[in-house]
Amino acid sequence: MISTFPQVAANSQASRIRLGIRSLQPQLVAWRRQLHQQPELGFTEQMTAAFISDQLTRWGIEHQTGIAETGVVAIIDGNRPGPVLGIRADMDALPIQEQNDVPYRSQRPGLMHACGHDGHVAVALGTAHYLSQHRDFAGTVKIIFQPAEEGPGGAKPMIEAGVLKNPDVEAMIGLHLWNNLPLGTMGVRTGAMMAATELFHCTIQGKGGHGAIPHQTVDSIVVSAQVINALQTVVARNIDPLKSAVVTVGKLTAGTALNVIADQAKMSGTVRYFDQGYQRFFCDRIEQIIAGVCQSHGATYELDYRHLYPPLINDAAITDLVRSVALEVVEPSAGVVPDCQTMGGEDMAFFLQEVPGCYFFLGAANADKGLAYPHHHPRFDFDETALGIGVETFVRCVEKFCR
Ligand code: NI
Repeated sequence: MISTFPQVAANSQASRIRLGIRSLQPQLVAWRRQLHQQPELGFTEQMTAAFISDQLTRWGIEHQTGIAETGVVAIIDGNRPGPVLGIRADMDALPIQEQNDVPYRSQRPGLMHACGHDGHVAVALGTAHYLSQHRDFAGTVKIIFQPAEEGPGGAKPMIEAGVLKNPDVEAMIGLHLWNNLPLGTMGVRTGAMMAATELFHCTIQGKGGHGAIPHQTVDSIVVSAQVINALQTVVARNIDPLKSAVVTVGKLTAGTALNVIADQAKMSGTVRYFDQGYQRFFCDRIEQIIAGVCQSHGATYELDYRHLYPPLINDAAITDLVRSVALEVVEPSAGVVPDCQTMGGEDMAFFLQEVPGCYFFLGAANADKGLAYPHHHPRFDFDETALGIGVETFVRCVEKFCR
């Protein structure tokens, strides 16, 4: 393991946990690498689910498969009654061609674990294995292996399938390996940590014609340019400047020839914000702007606006618990980052709407080893030392919560 680990007193419970997990480290790496070679997209994680189920069966851990297509839920009882803690790991990969030249590179053309979810599964498996061998805790730990975090989202269908019931989960924790933080650090934040994620597709219908005879047309490109400019005022002029939000139009297609006025333009974009009070605001304001600009030019529009994920809100008490564990697991001088926030979205947010909990970032970058590419990059990879740190963090959270 790494030198950034703080010293723990010999023969203490903390040192026993660390030693137990240290011996798991080669196994964690092997699981992660095996999963890395067989990436699967959301809701098609059959091999991943079978791999998880095989391990759980081998260890005698009660579990259910096929929840929300490919989800798996494991139940591990402690040796006395107590609370129920949920631990969530996402399982899916991305449609990216891997560019890493490593022995464990993806064996599937065009698919890659480029966000570290292979590592999340390995950490959750390691936690399940350790807890199944060390049942000296009160209550129950439910480990939720969730499909399709990258889209269209597996958390909501798993909740609808009842994974938080019977026994009822009282709190939830989860982590994301995070290359924006160096190995040996963690990002833990109370309140809004990740943004609400919404998207829209808009078709602007004008009237096509000759590029040299514009007065007989309604130029959908000019209209869409004005719409896109006006959309910049939503954040700049309609949002409280002390709050954060993003409106991005990331795609625009129109036209077929330089001397033809395009009758139709299509644009797509994403909206991000932290404050749940804005849940109706962006879709309403964006439609007002599109409608107003189109009306002033004699164009019409169709808008398809979708609310994907709500903001991810960490509960104060559970976050305090995770932070206290993080401060024991990593070297405080290396830094638990207390206020780590991103405009990225996460469907863990749906679980945290149902039960109090905490999602946190586990630093995984190691620039000295060339392991610092951003998430979703074709050369993304992380320092696998973080896997053991993740297991230790989960196990110590169980120790503190399940008592
Ligand atoms: Ni991810």
